[in-house]
Amino acid sequence: MNFIIAKDYEAMGRIAANIVAAQVLTKPDSVLGLATGSTPISLYRELVALYKRGEITFQNVKSFNLDEYVGLLPTDQNSYMYFMKYHLFDHINIKEGNYHCPKGTPKDLHEEAKNYERMIRDAGGIDLQVLGIGPNGHIGFNEPSMKFEKATHITDLDDKTIEANKRFFDKKEDVPKKAITMGIKTIMMAKSIVLLASGSSKAEIVKQAFLGEIMPNIPASVLQLHHNVTVIVDSEAGESIKMHV
Ligand code: PGA
Repeated sequence: MNFIIAKDYEAMGRIAANIVAAQVLTKPDSVLGLATGSTPISLYRELVALYKRGEITFQNVKSFNLDEYVGLLPTDQNSYMYFMKYHLFDHINIKEGNYHCPKGTPKDLHEEAKNYERMIRDAGGIDLQVLGIGPNGHIGFNEPSMKFEKATHITDLDDKTIEANKRFFDKKEDVPKKAITMGIKTIMMAKSIVLLASGSSKAEIVKQAFLGEIMPNIPASVLQLHHNVTVIVDSEAGESIKMHV
C-alpha cells in the first residue's frame, strides 16, 4: 500500500484529483468507481475545477457508485445519486447514462444487485475505485461482519453507520436501515484503488485497518491484499500511522 499524508482536507482532495485526472488522461474511456460522504467532496470540487479549466474531459468516462440507501429515490436529497449530481455529475461533461448508482427502489432488490454487478462487468470492470472509510472500518456499505460479502448485495446498516450518517437527516429514525452496496470482491477487482480519510475521528480506524490484522470485522483491512492501493489521509487522520509509514 502507498500512504500519502496530506497537510489538510483540501490537499487530500487535490492529490486524489491528480490521481483521478491521470487515470482519465491516460485512458479517456476509464471506468471510475465513486464514493459518497463528506470525505470525497474536496476531490469532487477539484475535479470540477480541472474540468472547468479545460484540463480534463469526462466525455467517454463511465462511473459506478459504491452504494445507495434502500427506499430512497434518486430525486431524494439524501440519496447518493442526488449527492453525486449535486457535487459532481451536474458540473462536468459525463454523459447521462454513463454514470450509475445502484437503484434504491427497484421492484426486486436482489435482481438489481445482480444487474449492477453485470453492468460493471460489461463495462470492462473498474479502472480506479475511490473509497472512504467508515468509523467502523466499512468500505461502501460492507459493514463489520463474520465474513466478507463478495458481490453487490443488500445489507442492514450497522448502528455505528446510522449514528454517523444521521447528521444528513432530520432525525436518526429517518436514516434508512438497509442499503445496496458493491461487495468486497467487486471492490477488490478494481485495477487500482484510492482510499481517502480525513479528520481525527478516522485516525484509529486507519491504523487498525491498514497496519493491523486482515479481518472481516474491519472490512477495509482486506485492502492490504490488493496490489495497487493508495491511502491518502489528512494530517489528523494520519496521526496514528505517521510513525509507521
Ligand atoms: P464520511 O463517510 O466520508 O462521511 O466520513 C465515509 C464512509 O462512511 O465511507
